[in-house]
Amino acid sequence: MSLGNGFTLWFTGLSGAGKTTLAQEISRRLARQGVGHEVLDGDVVRTHLSKGLGFSREDRDTNIRRIGFVANLLTRHGIPVITAAISPYRATREEVRREIGYDRFVEVYVEAGLDTLVSRDVKGLYKKALAGEIPAFTGVSDPYEAPLNPSLTVNSERETVQESADRIWNFLLQRGLVAEKRELAAV
Ligand code: ADX
Repeated sequence: MSLGNGFTLWFTGLSGAGKTTLAQEISRRLARQGVGHEVLDGDVVRTHLSKGLGFSREDRDTNIRRIGFVANLLTRHGIPVITAAISPYRATREEVRREIGYDRFVEVYVEAGLDTLVSRDVKGLYKKALAGEIPAFTGVSDPYEAPLNPSLTVNSERETVQESADRIWNFLLQRGLVAEKRELAAV
């Protein structure tokens, strides 16, 4: 059975681990092949679809279910979707995986040690969180449940963006979800 091009590439990991960067890199590669797709990034979704939601477990789960809902709508009509949200709870990610289907859902854990994230602190949020200025900050004062059996784990401390993106791309290729080269349509 052909899966067409519909799949959800679901990045999960702590804030600043590199989910958005990798999502953008894979998005670039799909665009280069002329494959229409969508990116659902937590930071962006929270300014529209999830505006007003906070960071309690309930609100995070609502955020993730909304992202999963949209991802499923697109995926089932053949549109690849890349998501980049912390998505800290295993059970909620599992719910989305079940909804979208195991053969179309690719979970990528973007791993990075807390020490590294604190020293990078791209958004300046870890310092604030460690000072107690941001309550319930993932990895500092709120849980993050790493995947037990992700499709793939990439590590932004040990690998370059290109190396991680290559491994993800190869995984998608092996699964038949992307094509090495796009055949030009005969005219
Ligand atoms: S999720 O938990 O619901 O998946 P999401 O990925 O949408 O989170 O948003 C995470 C982003 O919100 C972080 O990268 C950070 O910029 C910001 N943020 C603000 N407050 C928090 C917090 N308490 N915990 C984690 N991220 C936070």
